Amino acid sequence: MQPNHHVVVLTGAGISADSGVRTFRDAGGLWEGHRVEDVATPEGWARDPRLVWSFYQQRRRQLREVEPNAAHVALAEFERALEAAGHEFTLITQNVDNLHDRAGSRVLHMHGELQSLRCERCELVFEDTLHLDPGRFVECPECAHARLRPHIVWFGEVPFHLDAIAEVMATCTHFLAIGTSGQVWPAAGMLHSARARGAATFVQALEPPQNLDPQDRFCEGRASVVVPVMLAELRRALGV
Ligand code: APR
Repeated sequence: MQPNHHVVVLTGAGISADSGVRTFRDAGGLWEGHRVEDVATPEGWARDPRLVWSFYQQRRRQLREVEPNAAHVALAEFERALEAAGHEFTLITQNVDNLHDRAGSRVLHMHGELQSLRCERCELVFEDTLHLDPGRFVECPECAHARLRPHIVWFGEVPFHLDAIAEVMATCTHFLAIGTSGQVWPAAGMLHSARARGAATFVQALEPPQNLDPQDRFCEGRASVVVPVMLAELRRALGV
């Protein structure tokens, strides 16, 4: 009997770049003209919640203008083919956009989701795609007058799904890092942990990321062009 494969994919900003969503670290340390510390930390939110709110509301509005690209679609097809053949597949993303979800993938959003909001008081999380005004806070529907914050993991906060991710990494046979610079932990450590357990490792990005290792297969180029080819090759290799 064929051994069971478990393909784990970690995606980052590079996969959404081809859909028109800006990446984080290629604009001189600024993200849409803001310092990361001002818009992506709990301290930034405490200091100037209006700025942070307006920033994320604009990102949420942008979701309506972008579409999944060929890389998102290829991953969703890959998931279906692999699972139909009795193997396992897990997609983990650092991206807060909903492009994987819209392409039809089941995905763990380790850094949160733009389309959701969370109550600062009771922690209720819910999807809200209607309130997109950058100038007005939204109140929690459960706690009268408590303010909602973006459901985003900021620097200094603990990513979501870490227990599930640790479980997945324990059975990973193939690990693909797509469109991520490998600078943010704990996501960057997943590549190390895949290598340590002897999984085949693939890295896809525009340029070699800083955590690349000689044992990784590096697939250079734009995700929307390269990922469908990588996945087709992997399907052939796995016979699915
Ligand atoms: N196709 C493939 N890769 C690309 C493309 C593209 N079109 N454009 C850029 N890249 C690659 C770059 O080569 C780089 O390796 O995507 C990577 C983007 O890196 P970052 O901007 O650092 O994004 P990411 O790794 O996802 O950032 C991780 O940092 O700010 C936090 O929480 C935020 O989730 C984010 C985390």
